[in-house]
Amino acid sequence: MRECRQDEVFPKCRLLYAIVFVFAYLELRWSQRGALLKAPIDTSEKPIVWVLGGPGSGKGTQCEKIIAKYGFTHLSTGDLLRAEVKSGSERAKCLTTIMERGELVPNETVLELLKEAIEARAADSKGFLIDGYPREKSQGIAFENSIAPVTVILYFEASCETLTKRLLGRAASSGRADDNEETIKLRLKTFLDNNDLVLAQYPDKLTRINAEATVDEIFGEVQKILDPVVAAAAAN
Ligand code: AP5
Repeated sequence: MRECRQDEVFPKCRLLYAIVFVFAYLELRWSQRGALLKAPIDTSEKPIVWVLGGPGSGKGTQCEKIIAKYGFTHLSTGDLLRAEVKSGSERAKCLTTIMERGELVPNETVLELLKEAIEARAADSKGFLIDGYPREKSQGIAFENSIAPVTVILYFEASCETLTKRLLGRAASSGRADDNEETIKLRLKTFLDNNDLVLAQYPDKLTRINAEATVDEIFGEVQKILDPVVAAAAAN
């Protein structure tokens, strides 16, 4: 048998060490990235509020009032998507078509935009208002798995007649490509197809609010839910 010479063994060892080192480094970076994405916020101090309801139910209107009173960070998935479309980015290319059909944008795109926005504001936010998300059962699961558990859910409930009337009323001034009679019908269908399954997942965290009332009456109900949530967060 041929004896191993030292000058043959050492280069092989060095190569092996180098490979092990590179793998260990990549593994460490990957686990750090996971930790960063998984726990960017402590929800006992910064509550997460999901704001749900059909198209035109008043999610955006109530969010404005909530921001004014509680100073939460408002992230509307509709606004984030419209901003992405305007940016002309690579991932924006197919968004316009989907939104004009009143359909849901792929989950990964929406979650990615939300994650980026939450991470960017996590340090100085008092809490997050996530407006228009989740719209599908799987969106809620993905959010809680990769960002943080939701604290409380506000669901604004109104009839399809009311929603249609409001959106058509807004159409003249909104400049939104999806505020037209045909797309409103499709948006309502998409909402009705998914909504019950989304709500059924969170019986303990969900509050239904009658969104047929006036803006101020609805905000009165919203405050009954959020005052204790904010007080609890302030005590932590
Ligand atoms: P998005 O922009 O979220 O639209 P939407 O859910 O259809 O809701 P709106 O923003 O039109 O209405 P709103 O409930 O905020 O009501 P508002 O306060 O404006 O989403 C657009 C698209 O993006 C989706 O169709 C989808 O393609 C995509 N998308 C978004 N999120 C997604 C996700 N998670 N996953 C996949 N795709 C996603 O009020 C409406 C009008 O009513 C206003 O004129 C207002 O002044 C009036 N009003 C409000 N409250 C009252 C009241 N109490 N009484 C009388 N009038 C009122």
